Amino acid sequence: MQIGIPLEIRAGEKRVAATPETVKKLASAHSVFVQAGAGLGASIPDSEYEAAGAKILGSAAELYAASRLVLKVRGLEESEFPLVKKDSILVGLLSPHEKEKMEAYAKQGLTAFAMESIPRISRAQSMDVLSSQANIGGYKSVILAANAYGRFFPMLMTAAGTVKAARVLVLGVGVAGLQAIATAKRLGAVIEAFDVRPAVREQVLSLGAKFVEVPLSEGESAETSGGYAREMSEEYKQKQAELIKARAIQSDIVITTALIPGRPAPVLLKEETVAAMKHGSVVVDMAVEFGGNCPLSEKDRIVEKHGVTLIGHTNLPAMMAADASALYARNMLNFINLLFEPKTGELKIDREDEIIAGTLISMNGELVKK
Ligand code: NAI
Repeated sequence: MQIGIPLEIRAGEKRVAATPETVKKLASAHSVFVQAGAGLGASIPDSEYEAAGAKILGSAAELYAASRLVLKVRGLEESEFPLVKKDSILVGLLSPHEKEKMEAYAKQGLTAFAMESIPRISRAQSMDVLSSQANIGGYKSVILAANAYGRFFPMLMTAAGTVKAARVLVLGVGVAGLQAIATAKRLGAVIEAFDVRPAVREQVLSLGAKFVEVPLSEGESAETSGGYAREMSEEYKQKQAELIKARAIQSDIVITTALIPGRPAPVLLKEETVAAMKHGSVVVDMAVEFGGNCPLSEKDRIVEKHGVTLIGHTNLPAMMAADASALYARNMLNFINLLFEPKTGELKIDREDEIIAGTLISMNGELVKK
């Protein structure tokens, strides 16, 4: 197989879909091509890919022309479509909920896999890019908040008097929220966390944070069979808004991570809540790409409203591109191993396999997920 690693061209995207570590493994059975400069955003020079067994190609046109299996971080930009060979296999974060884009992959004749749709089953944990990247995002969100906050995170007793610990509120405790709690804890903050799924309570407590919750009405469930959150009733949302407002005005930092797959992010931090928060507080809205958990946050901007700094970076993992690429590349390697017969090394796309079926968008030009 000819495997190609292009330079990512989406604005702000510094990650790369393979590292010298994964290229070395791929090159033992396949030809691997890397576009010149593809790894620079993640601090990987071309020479390291070459030493791992890859051939460096100078342009995107050469790279796509040489490759049958293309490993990407982000989906194709318009300028890349004409470069991709008709029967190529494309693997990356393809935004599977955006129907028009999926149709475009099918129209191009591609076999495309969306890594966001890796099922949350134990066999697929090593391929779970949403988890590996959300973990990084959760960490970085706290580092950014600490940087923007004009006070200490830990409690300090100094000769000049005592400094109080920062109070951090984490809204949405999935993978990113758990890492945000763990990171804020290491920095010495006092943490509260909230999620619609009561199942996360134990995890929050085990990280040394306090869990605040809205009681569910009888028969109401917050979780789908896939373990994701569902959209809640109006009554629940009302109670939730009151609780969050009460906790947010006591907090110095609010990190929001709440997402509902395939739907706009739930609004958790209303304008009236931000207006009631202390001056100098910091909000990091990790859901800003999907509409935001706070209507005041703005995509890829840091803004100040009502005396509160709102941080709205859409791609936190790209701000830690070296580690984000290392983990993403391992996820990719584990996934593409599924596409080859273990004994013969031949390409075999087994649509009966739950992981293949879950991620396959289009096959040989036919749209699989409608
Ligand atoms: P996510 O990124 O889809 O959402 C983040 C968090 O926001 C979730 O905890 C969700 O419950 C919460 N949320 C949604 N609506 C909310 C609202 N209105 N108010 C407050 N919180 C709200 O979640 P993520 O991190 O992708 O994890 C989803 C689930 O998958 C979790 O149960 C996680 O433990 C599980 N998981 C399972 C894995 C496996 O391989 N078995 C791997 C990774 C995660």
